[in-house]
Amino acid sequence: MKVIVGSTQEIAEKGAQQYVELLAKKPNAVLGLATGSTPEPLYAELIKLHKEGKISFADARTFNLDEYCGLQPTHPQSYRYFMQDKLFDHVDIKAENTRVPDGLHTTPENVEEYDRDIALAGGIDLQLLGIGVNGHIAFNEPGTPWGSLTQIVELTEKTREVNSRFFDSIDDVPTHAVCMGIRTIMNTKDIVLYALGENKAEAIKKTVYGKISKKCPSSILQLHPSVTVYCDEAAGSLL
Ligand code: PGA
Repeated sequence: MKVIVGSTQEIAEKGAQQYVELLAKKPNAVLGLATGSTPEPLYAELIKLHKEGKISFADARTFNLDEYCGLQPTHPQSYRYFMQDKLFDHVDIKAENTRVPDGLHTTPENVEEYDRDIALAGGIDLQLLGIGVNGHIAFNEPGTPWGSLTQIVELTEKTREVNSRFFDSIDDVPTHAVCMGIRTIMNTKDIVLYALGENKAEAIKKTVYGKISKKCPSSILQLHPSVTVYCDEAAGSLL
């Protein structure tokens, strides 16, 4: 596991270079994308590089980590809406090449289809992750089995509370989400994990140095062959 600490802008620029290099080498690369406040500086940097003609997503395919159950794609807090707003609408990616889990039609077949479609696309080349204060990756909360594939998960009260900042009240935060499993994430070729802010410092310490334990889902990343952790100084302060 490689760890890079810098300012928010520095780590956004460094991470964006990984995307530039990957898409130059493999224009139809499969990108695993994430939502939340953490990836925003990276997405802003990718948009800037695209406008400068330094990166093209024309043949790229994307799979997002998760989506709330019950929110329409047009809901401002849905992850589909977020991706359109923060990245897809500003680059040359084809709409049909972007996938966000379907949080409205959550039959077992629809949910299982996600892993199958990732495999059919050739697997994820580069997976972007954020991290929760409790070490969750996507909505894989503490206790999630290591072998999990894309599934419907119940959000913990802590996660709903943390995410309530984006909603009018905690009662509006969905209770469930469709989420790539730990195994889905571990099957990706390269991973970049971003963490910003002091409230992520403990989770980052456990991710990098902690015992591998389901109590901290991100600790499993120690077993992945290619992970780069990008932290700002605050998130990296306990390393
Ligand atoms: P955040 O969320 O980027 O909004 O902090 C990350 C996460 O909970 O995985």
